[in-house]
Amino acid sequence: MTPRLSVVIPCYNEAANVAPMVERLDAALAGIAWEAIFVDDDSPDGTAARAKAIAARDPRIRCIRRVGRRGLASACIEGILSSAAPFVAVIDGDLQHDETILPQMLALLEADRAEVVIGSRNIEGGTKGEGLSPVRRMVSDGGAALANAALPVKVGDPMSGFFALPRPIFDDLAPRLTGTGFKILLDVLLSAGRPLRVAEVPYAFRAREAGESKLDAGVLLEFGGLLADKALGGLVPLRFMAFALVGAIGVVVHVATLTLLYGIGPLDFWPAQWAATLVAMTANFLLNNRITYRDRRLRGPGLARGLLLFYLVCGMGAAANVGIAGLLLRDGLLNWGLAGAAGALLTVVWNYAVSSTLVWRP
Ligand code: GDD
Ligand code: MN
Repeated sequence: MTPRLSVVIPCYNEAANVAPMVERLDAALAGIAWEAIFVDDDSPDGTAARAKAIAARDPRIRCIRRVGRRGLASACIEGILSSAAPFVAVIDGDLQHDETILPQMLALLEADRAEVVIGSRNIEGGTKGEGLSPVRRMVSDGGAALANAALPVKVGDPMSGFFALPRPIFDDLAPRLTGTGFKILLDVLLSAGRPLRVAEVPYAFRAREAGESKLDAGVLLEFGGLLADKALGGLVPLRFMAFALVGAIGVVVHVATLTLLYGIGPLDFWPAQWAATLVAMTANFLLNNRITYRDRRLRGPGLARGLLLFYLVCGMGAAANVGIAGLLLRDGLLNWGLAGAAGALLTVVWNYAVSSTLVWRP
């Protein structure tokens, strides 16, 4: 029978939680035609193998194993896009979300009482329970406030990873999704192009029993990036903004090093300037590796190779900068300030374009 509800379950290192998850869905969704789609990013603990072992004997279970990629939001998107059911839900694979409210969520959608139903920890009846540490609770509350400032509709728990919606609505907005970070629901609400009618169903966030959380500082950075991207209407690529920001930090590193070596220290200007350039480029490379290209992070021997290539790319960028600025100035096209700025802009765009294709290859 074709399922009425597809339950998409993003998983990374959740092997121990797969079988209990299926059992709980089975109990919670009795009487409803459902399917579960585990989306695993090739977890080293063998999550996909566990899911596929169950899928081999239970036709309601499917598993998408993605290789060479990581990301909660993109995993959810791909899972939902693989569904043919009229309604889809997303639920964490670590048993922290309360699957027993799924029928209520589905009923609200079927009655057209809402276009998105959110499992909410922040409204009357919902709790964050044991599931969040005090620090995480602060981050979560702060994030919710920030998100609500950006949202056209006010939502109690805009950071929820637990929600359901009719598949056609998702199919419509899917091409506009950012697809980075953890905040898939926020991305959906911001990408709809109009305020969606939202309903929230309270639940108590459970403590994690097996495995560990994958939310780290990088994920929070991506959250900021998502808001910035939507604020700019998606005109400037997120990665470019990160790259430019890292570049600005590089300037600070450069000036600091120069001050240490030349201003305070013993070196002459040119050796100090060269050393500062090298330090700043290395800092930029490492920061870009951790932030801008965290999904393509270089490690081991690839790191050394990438660094050398990055020096080369930046060196050419610097030469182009000086050359262009010189030409604009010579031909009297711009005054020195604008000529310098044009050269610098060109360098950032060049460094970004070449880094994105050669140093951190997609
Ligand atoms: N496929 C895939 N790829 N799944 C992932 C990835 C990834 O890169 N990272 C995390 N997941 C899965 C986890 O295995 C888990 O099932 C679910 O996504 C949530 O990840 P957790 O690491 O457990 O997140 P959390 O519990 O700290 O965060 C929860 O609260 C946040 C708000 O405070 C989640 O519900 C988030 O969705 C929510 O935004
Ligand atoms: Mn979790």
